[in-house]
Amino acid sequence: MSAPELDGRATWPRIRPAVRHRVERAILREMPTREDAPIRGRDPSRPPARPAPPVLPGDDPGSIAIAAERLRAGGLVVFPTETVYGLGANALDARAVAHVFAAKERPAFDPLIVHLADASAVGTYAEMEDADDPRVARLAARFWPGPLTLVLRKRAVIPGIVTAGLPTVGLRVPDHPVARALIRAAGVPVAAPSANRFGHLSPTRAAHVVAGLGSRVDLVLDGGPCRVGVESTVILLAAGRAALLRPGGLAIEAIEAEIGRLEVLVDGAPRTAELAPGRAGAHYAPRIPLVLADPRDPEAAPAFVVRPGERVGFLAASAAGRAAAEAAGGPFAAVEVLDANGDVVGAAARLFDALHSLQAADLSRIVAEPVPDVGLGRAVMDRLRRAARAAGDAPDEPAVNR
Ligand code: TXA
Ligand code: MG
Repeated sequence: MSAPELDGRATWPRIRPAVRHRVERAILREMPTREDAPIRGRDPSRPPARPAPPVLPGDDPGSIAIAAERLRAGGLVVFPTETVYGLGANALDARAVAHVFAAKERPAFDPLIVHLADASAVGTYAEMEDADDPRVARLAARFWPGPLTLVLRKRAVIPGIVTAGLPTVGLRVPDHPVARALIRAAGVPVAAPSANRFGHLSPTRAAHVVAGLGSRVDLVLDGGPCRVGVESTVILLAAGRAALLRPGGLAIEAIEAEIGRLEVLVDGAPRTAELAPGRAGAHYAPRIPLVLADPRDPEAAPAFVVRPGERVGFLAASAAGRAAAEAAGGPFAAVEVLDANGDVVGAAARLFDALHSLQAADLSRIVAEPVPDVGLGRAVMDRLRRAARAAGDAPDEPAVNR
């Protein structure tokens, strides 16, 4: 693959041979891990039903050293961040990054975020004019490490495949000790999308990654459940602009308090597709229809009526929302409460975990209660609206996802 010139729009990266690193993987699989119960309990004479990647404890320096080595050698390493788990590759290695797109089955027009160990590396990867923008210094000082991605004009050292041919690159310093130790030990910037397959839910636990990607990755570092639970807030600061590309784990209000109003891009507008390719369609396309409905709204009442034979799941914003939904209809085959008190930070932290559980509950449809559209609630509502919109699409119309 002729990497840096690779036009992401026209090319689909090839799947690497599945046997890559098999020997090392076999060795690693024997190492004790947090999630090794099913592996240890397995009859060694029988192959596993489904190949699993080695899962190593993220808080062990030995695991970090192995993972860093894998990254430097062009491998794919899944690591925890405070938002969601990332599927990492050396951002300076176009071949390794191509494998990320292949493992996720992600369309090549959607750029990846480059993760840095600290803000001092921004000038190495972003054009000087943008790296020296005082707003960048201000946001970095205030919110990094943290769930904020800054999109700046890129330097040539970042291969085109990372940014899907865009002249800009998304940079972020994650707030997770395992992520930072890994990036530091690898000594390279790490390109990493969320560690889920295209069209699937983002993972907030190592087990989600193992179930979703299996042996498509070389190694998973387990850091326990992700604290923030929704992906980073993405803002464009290139060439003097300031636009919100994706609401996420850092409240927009907090960013605006530092640098003033952000431009808001309208979904579906041509300019939006150009500046924020990841917004071209649905975020997560559930295989189960999902509707947003407030149990206290009489007009939404039909959504809560469960017909004979139907298995309906309810995603409650709070304990009170659950009670209201159970009064309005039901019985529900599964209920997930995002936060007992209806707190939006708690809701964000539980969102993907709750959706993973509902998705596994053999439901005919999901009804989701809206959360307040403020602070991190905006990120939650963004994900739920996209899921609802995707569920309403014609089934043969592919939903664009990350
Ligand atoms: O919290 C997060 O951001 C997680 C963790 C792993 O860091 N990563 C993540 O990556 O959510 P991904 O690839 O699933 O979503 C990245 C989003 C996409 O919508 C992509 O289009 C946007 O960031 N993005 C990245 N680089 C961009 C660029 N140069 N211009 C515009 N949008 C960009
Ligand atoms: Mg994603």
